[in-house]
Amino acid sequence: MEAMYNLLNRRSVRKYTQQQVPDELLDQVLEAGLFAPTGMNTQNIYMVAVRDKETRDQMMRMNAAVMGRDGDPFYGAPCVIVVLGDASGYPVVENGSLVLGNLMNAAHAVGLGSCWIHRAKQMFETQEGKALLRKWGLKESLVGVGNCILGYPDEEPAARPRLDGRIVRIG
Ligand SMILES: Cc1cc2nc3c(=O)[nH]c(=O)nc-3n(C[C@H](O)[C@H](O)[C@H](O)COP(=O)(O)O)c2cc1C
Repeated sequence: MEAMYNLLNRRSVRKYTQQQVPDELLDQVLEAGLFAPTGMNTQNIYMVAVRDKETRDQMMRMNAAVMGRDGDPFYGAPCVIVVLGDASGYPVVENGSLVLGNLMNAAHAVGLGSCWIHRAKQMFETQEGKALLRKWGLKESLVGVGNCILGYPDEEPAARPRLDGRIVRIG
């Protein structure tokens, strides 16, 4: 029942306090990501947890640049987990999306806020993105799937209404 509660009550959080995510919570969230299923058990998904402010702000600028904007697409969250996939394995979007889902649900379960922030693919196609991958000791051919921002929520958003007519039951 607790799992059901968490699944139904997780929301995308877009306002955060400045308090950093501590190791013990970050470790639990990352472990949940590791245990997401992967097609044919390829385990071809990588997570890079960034709390270093300089790197976080660099990625913030890279993400905003994809949209041709300034500003903070990470909504002030102090921690960002970039999810990337090795495209030589099983399709990365499917596997990476399940990892992102686990990260967001686990974040909610341990009292953190989270939100999927898109455009990781474009961020890591740039020379700047590839340089970051090299610096992190990863293959520069990895493909960005999504960014999971994390932090302590400074808002409690209500669920957006779910559209009707999206479930078909046969029998
Ligand atoms: C593939 C994907 C990409 C998303 N990209 C963004 C994004 O770039 N910025 C953002 O604020 N929210 C983003 N979101 C969050 C959605 O807007 C959010 O999940 C949706 O409005 C439903 O709200 P809920 O997560 O609270 O249920 C993304 C979600 C998904 C699944």
